[in-house]
Amino acid sequence: MMLDANHAPPVPAQPQAIRREDYRPPAWTVPEVSLDFDLDPATTRVRARLEVSRREDTVEPLRLDGAGQRLVSVLVDGVAINDWRLDGDTLEVPLTGDTHVVETEVEIAPDANTQLMGLYASNGILCTQCEAEGFRRITYFPDRPDVLARYRVRMSADKARFPVLLANGDPIASGDLPDGRHWAEWHDPFPKPSYLFALVAGDLACNRSSFTTQSGREVELGIWVREADLPRTHHALHALKLSMAWDEHVYGREYDLDVFNIVAVDDFNFGAMENKGLNIFNSRYVLADPDTATDMDYDHVAGVVAHEYFHNWSGNRVTCRDWFQLSLKEGFTVFRDQGFSADQGSAAVKRIEDVRALRASQFPEDAGPLAHPIRPESYLEISNFYTATIYNKGAEIVRMMATILGPQRFRAATDLYFDRFDGTAATCEDFVQCMEDAGGVDLTQFRLWYSQAGTPRVSASVTHDAGSGRATLRLGQQVPATPGQSDKEPMVIPLKLRLFGAATGRPLTDEQLVMLNQASDTIVYEGVTERPVLSINRGFSAPVVIESDRTPDELAFLSGTDDDPFARYEATQQLMLDTLVAGAIEGGRTNHDAVIRAVSATLSDPSLDPAFVAEAVLLPAEGFIADQLAVVDPEAVFAARQALRSDLARQLEEQWRAAYDGPREPYAYTPRAKGSRRLRNVALGYLAATNTGDAGKLAFTQFAAADNMTDRQGALQVLANGDSDERVAALDIFYNRYADNALVLDKWFQTQALATRADTVEIVAELSRHPDFSLANPNRARSLVGAFGVNQRALNRADGAGYRFLADQLIQLDKLNPQTAAKLLPPLGRWRRFDATRAVMMRAELERIVAVPGLSKDLFEQASKSLE
Ligand code: ARG
Ligand code: ZN
Repeated sequence: MMLDANHAPPVPAQPQAIRREDYRPPAWTVPEVSLDFDLDPATTRVRARLEVSRREDTVEPLRLDGAGQRLVSVLVDGVAINDWRLDGDTLEVPLTGDTHVVETEVEIAPDANTQLMGLYASNGILCTQCEAEGFRRITYFPDRPDVLARYRVRMSADKARFPVLLANGDPIASGDLPDGRHWAEWHDPFPKPSYLFALVAGDLACNRSSFTTQSGREVELGIWVREADLPRTHHALHALKLSMAWDEHVYGREYDLDVFNIVAVDDFNFGAMENKGLNIFNSRYVLADPDTATDMDYDHVAGVVAHEYFHNWSGNRVTCRDWFQLSLKEGFTVFRDQGFSADQGSAAVKRIEDVRALRASQFPEDAGPLAHPIRPESYLEISNFYTATIYNKGAEIVRMMATILGPQRFRAATDLYFDRFDGTAATCEDFVQCMEDAGGVDLTQFRLWYSQAGTPRVSASVTHDAGSGRATLRLGQQVPATPGQSDKEPMVIPLKLRLFGAATGRPLTDEQLVMLNQASDTIVYEGVTERPVLSINRGFSAPVVIESDRTPDELAFLSGTDDDPFARYEATQQLMLDTLVAGAIEGGRTNHDAVIRAVSATLSDPSLDPAFVAEAVLLPAEGFIADQLAVVDPEAVFAARQALRSDLARQLEEQWRAAYDGPREPYAYTPRAKGSRRLRNVALGYLAATNTGDAGKLAFTQFAAADNMTDRQGALQVLANGDSDERVAALDIFYNRYADNALVLDKWFQTQALATRADTVEIVAELSRHPDFSLANPNRARSLVGAFGVNQRALNRADGAGYRFLADQLIQLDKLNPQTAAKLLPPLGRWRRFDATRAVMMRAELERIVAVPGLSKDLFEQASKSLE
């Protein structure tokens, strides 16, 4: 049946806000689905058979979501019907009884799918992405996470082009068809929401292995990639086995199907997707070997493999009732993958990395026009809410509950949660309730973390009366206003703290966990015989900003002596930050001595892990320094940071050289060897900052001699930042060596887009016309446009060329891939933080974007909210 006049396609309407308070349970459930795919890149035919069941007391028609497909026919109980109607994209089917079989047939065009949601083609592979609302682009269905169905999937395709056919669950049967085609059938016994549906068809090779679960079941594992990429799959496979064992060990969670497959595709909107039994990954989070992947890439591969695997319980077995509950699965799963990674190497270094990432991406989000609580109240486009707040702040909030409960009770609470909600679609409230029930705690006030946005600011100061031996700690909290939330309640802030004696360096108290739950509080310590120094928010026990009146000397003291490695790192960072902020405000020379002494002491402390040293001696990022200023002057921030950097470089040159020339380990991906590479590359950066002339040669020598990507790219970044003769040569060599490896070419683009040179805007504009550049591939788009967007100096150049370039790219990208475009917009929304001239230019670009005819809902939401 073709569309007739009554079934005209929808007229695009003003985007409508979806509100959490409007949640209603589904009127119809779908216990069973059978899907039959006649796969072809140009036109794929999808026949769906839904067993639908009316929920008691509803009189509503069956409403099925759809988008972008051509409807061919609708059958009810085997009979073609004609009284269906399309309300916008929604297919309404009038049904009289309580259970029916509804069949639809649609046509979709994978080749034409540039948004990479639904079924699409990536370098000859057909694959799907359904979270959050991609399934409706494949077939008509109640595309919401609280409709859980059992899926049977049949696929047929050309056997030569698509020899491998994969779907969720277990393979049931397969066979050949006439005309060079073949078919395969898969069943997934676990009821699941549509966003976890997946299929893959392609010419893929498999790195196979198996895993025996704690109860002795054998699981067949497979990592599917192009034949040529097979040698780069061992790390991911190893990480998968470690993850499976870790989840049994730490959370008591065992895998539940007979097969677990991971497929790598080159075109992917984000990191990876936890589809039941068939994870689909961005190839950058699967492929790794020493020649093409840095240590950080290796860490990310393992972290993402773990994350997606852990979703099998936190996400799939227990899913989300609605998308406002997204952090229920994402925050918890990030917390779980952070724990996994911490257990593979240095927990302290992992914590530092995670906090740095939070400060780089979540703090600015929480302080800007797109701030939202981890459980938002409304959205226009759910894809815009896959944010650092939902993921990373969400993980911090789970971490605080774990801290409050302690390890045993937290484990009891997660056991209860998995047990109570297995096979259902749950809410954040359900999770917190389990924490209360198993933990024996009252989290009523703590729940504000789910509803209030903004990063709390905690003030802390200690006074000491030597005569009476009394020390008084005064704490205060203030939660800044965020869009739609002007008045905030005091939150529950778990602060780990400890006092040290300034004179003796001895701890004066044990570490204690203080729950700050009022606007202000006072704690009195008796018998304090020497002046105390406060170590606070140890381990980053709460995602807050600490404002203390500790002097540079006190921070330097903690930097050298605190027994909590995170606090030691933090004291050094705070000292650097205070110095840099003063430098940016005063413009001229500020006193760098305390920082230089602290860094020198850190570099020469033999008790410290080199991986920790490398993190601790790095200066805070420009963006984080800027966040501390009332009005950001990006040139002043850059200049202050360069000044401190070159002072550190020159005055500690011997120490940097010693760190650089220190004992070297042969290449291995072990915590120890990684740490030594990290420290060496940080030292190289400082040696280059001495500006003594031979920096270019030193970096080029490392670049040319490197036997691994960490050292090669480390040297390349140093060269790309500078102006040496070796810069162009190194970039050319790198390009030629890796011309046929897309993931490494991404690094070539990214390194140049991140460069701290004055002419980065021109370089990046030129690169956007390079034959290897394309906005159609999200990794490539992010490597240039995304990296440029976080380059503070380049983006915020005084003449506005940076803003213009970014807006031009976003407008083009939106036509192909709205989701990826919308993700790259936030840097333009930070106009309130800058001087009037920059603010006017940034707003003008946002207005230009909003005015584009046919703009996507995704980019519209981000740009219009950024203007408010
Ligand atoms: N659930 C996936 C993950 O975190 C990510 C899905 C992102 N979806 C989106 N529309 N941005 O593992
Ligand atoms: Zn996730």
